[in-house]
Amino acid sequence: MGKHGLEILTIDVEMLKKNLNEALCEEWLAYYQYWIGARLMEGPMRSEIEPELLLHANQELNHAVLVADRIIQLGGTPILHPADWFKHSKCEYDAPTDPYVEIILNQNLKGERCAIQRYKELADFTNGKDHTTHQMATTILNEELEHEQDIEDWIADLKRMKEDIKKFRM
Ligand SMILES: [Fe+2]
Ligand SMILES: [Fe+2]
Repeated sequence: MGKHGLEILTIDVEMLKKNLNEALCEEWLAYYQYWIGARLMEGPMRSEIEPELLLHANQELNHAVLVADRIIQLGGTPILHPADWFKHSKCEYDAPTDPYVEIILNQNLKGERCAIQRYKELADFTNGKDHTTHQMATTILNEELEHEQDIEDWIADLKRMKEDIKKFRM
């Protein structure tokens, strides 16, 4: 970013770059969590949910692009080594050791709620101080909110399906 572009920021840029790098690590871990979970998933509605999880994965990757580009614009360096993703991420990565669809969805749901918190905090932090990062944070926040809603809807559908089966058996 140009000199004046940096000058007009009334924000702690070092802290901002640190937070953005944490978000970057979280996006890569979220991407892989979706990507591998979608492939391993077993159970009801799998064929319906799998492509949607892969779509979420692509959107997380796109968030990583936006965040990395912003770090560079701010004169920072995006995290260079994947080994550092775990060191900087505030969100957990849950390995999908049990491929049952509901377990995979709950792991992703936890990740989404962590991402929502991340971008809410980034939006608050940059509000009125760095319009560009603020706009990016709210754009990503909206997508994370949609992701959470999608997953909650699938979990509700699965629950209803199980209840219907129980009723039918009685
Ligand atoms: Fe994301
Ligand atoms: Fe997401």
